[in-house]
Amino acid sequence: MTSAPLAFSAKSRRTPESPIAWFMAQALGNPAMISLAAGLVDTASLPAEVIGASVARLLADPATAKPCLQYGTTNGYAPLRQKVLSHVTGMDGVSASELNLSADDVMLGTGSQQLLYILSEMLFDPGDIVITEAPSYFVYHAVLEGNGARVETVPMDDDGMDIAALRTLLDRLDRAGELSKVRMIYTVDYFQNPTGLTLSAARRREMLDLVRSYAPRQRILILEDAAYRELRYEGDDIPSIKSLDTTNEFVVHAGTFSKPCSPGLKTGYAIMPSDLIEPMTRIKGNHDFGSNNFSQYILNDLLETGEYHEQVIRLRGVYREKRDAMLDALNEQFGGRDDVSWTKPTGGMFVWLRMPPHILTSPDSPFTKACIDAGVMYVPGEFGHIAGQGHRPGSEARLSFGDASPARIREGIRRLRHAADAVAPAVNRSAADSILVAAGS
Ligand SMILES: Cc1ncc(COP(=O)(O)O)c(C=O)c1O
Repeated sequence: MTSAPLAFSAKSRRTPESPIAWFMAQALGNPAMISLAAGLVDTASLPAEVIGASVARLLADPATAKPCLQYGTTNGYAPLRQKVLSHVTGMDGVSASELNLSADDVMLGTGSQQLLYILSEMLFDPGDIVITEAPSYFVYHAVLEGNGARVETVPMDDDGMDIAALRTLLDRLDRAGELSKVRMIYTVDYFQNPTGLTLSAARRREMLDLVRSYAPRQRILILEDAAYRELRYEGDDIPSIKSLDTTNEFVVHAGTFSKPCSPGLKTGYAIMPSDLIEPMTRIKGNHDFGSNNFSQYILNDLLETGEYHEQVIRLRGVYREKRDAMLDALNEQFGGRDDVSWTKPTGGMFVWLRMPPHILTSPDSPFTKACIDAGVMYVPGEFGHIAGQGHRPGSEARLSFGDASPARIREGIRRLRHAADAVAPAVNRSAADSILVAAGS
């Protein structure tokens, strides 16, 4: 008997396929391939022994042995929620009470990704407007699309989101009678995925002031995704936007233990205005009535013993070397060219590369094919941009220095240069430019 076709929900139909899955599969299926695409963390420095000792401790102690193997609570293990709050406010140099915060305003989740997802499900109806940086974290774009949100984007420069452009956009939406649909501004404000750029201290204040100025008519939330904050390799930490939100009204601060410790533990957190907690608990209860309790006990233990902090310090050294390897290699391979540029991140895992306009980086472009043939992969920059949202540059790429060793990073960048020369030899660059100009590209 042949069955009638199964009907899927509108939400399922709206949810796009992950654009990066194909790239991940290529890298995993071919060990010779140097993946500068994967968002994986450094495998060699994952804290296997430290976590092994923590697990042994937890299981040997009658106070934790059975509880850590039992179901936990929807919002997460209370001692860890308290430690997360102290950890984040400690980095910001403020007390929780100055920010009107308590551990009840902290939610733990299956990675920060789950919390980003639940927040979006809870806040947006189809047609609601969310403002993001251009480019932005494309996995979150997919969440927004799945929830039917309309995404408006704001360009970035070296200081992160352009606040003057954000002001103009909000003003335009207000004049168009659409202010009531504007629900949130999403920013990855430390070493952004995908560009590596950081929002400056001055702009953080300006963003919050702008949101405050609209508050009597429309309460717009800022979702501050600080996934990479702790991976800083030079300069001083910048206080979070959350630390400026002294009334605890406007900023949801999302963080994760995936990058600074272990993504296998898949534990993240959100610190948020108190009135968001109850609806979020209801929805999260439907999702899972509690994320992995065992991971939360492990992280609580690592924070208590100080081993978490030691791991972060170790990781900074490891990633600093990789970041330097990538920037040095880019300089060696493309340094003399004024038609190639890249960001110089002071933390995180990503460099944003801008190739000349005649070298397209889309998945089916000759350059991408030449890179794959040469054994190197990157994430096409277009994945970070929303289709139909103004200028969508076709010659950008996200390069990750998270996973590959310094030697492979250097070799990967060398292969990238060779692929670029193969599709548009440097000597013919001006000729290629004129062809493009002639073609009106
Ligand atoms: C900007 C950003 N936010 C959030 C996440 C989610 O991380 P996790 O769910 O592992 O905490 C990631 C992961 O790559 C990310 O890059």
